[in-house]
Amino acid sequence: MALRTIVKDGDPILKKVCRPVTKFDDRLATLLDDMQDTLVDADGLGLAGPQVGMMRRIFICLDDRNRPEDAPADYKDTFIEFINPEIEYLSDETVELYEGCLSFPGHNGAITRSKKVKVKAQDRNGNWFELEAENMLARCIQHENDHLNGVTIMDRATHFYEDDYPEDTED
Ligand code: NI
Repeated sequence: MALRTIVKDGDPILKKVCRPVTKFDDRLATLLDDMQDTLVDADGLGLAGPQVGMMRRIFICLDDRNRPEDAPADYKDTFIEFINPEIEYLSDETVELYEGCLSFPGHNGAITRSKKVKVKAQDRNGNWFELEAENMLARCIQHENDHLNGVTIMDRATHFYEDDYPEDTED
């Protein structure tokens, strides 16, 4: 298990456009394993390459599709790896929800996203696959794909609230 440092707010790397992955080798596999360890350790839902300092078109998302609602504390989550992803379809039907990001701790932004998404991507061996997702996984894919284009919740959100809202809000 190896944890990578998560890049935080203010780092210019979060505003850059990532390059495609061209080598599907052991180095890529190690990066993906480390990203998963890092994501689990941070208790997040998704993580993109630039968030661990890698300017490559790569992200992972927690796969909640078969997760039981009353999952035990030691439930082993699974993750989906997307390499060189291409969004092929975004539904006109949208949902607005508050959304956080491991690179912007303490910020939750209201963001409208498509309810359903269809994405094409490569796996860690370079094989192409297509995936249709909805709800949380669809939101995660759109959020992480944004990271590959230098776009974050700070650009997308219409408004924000802080973690301790509403108890300690004084307005
Ligand atoms: Ni993020």
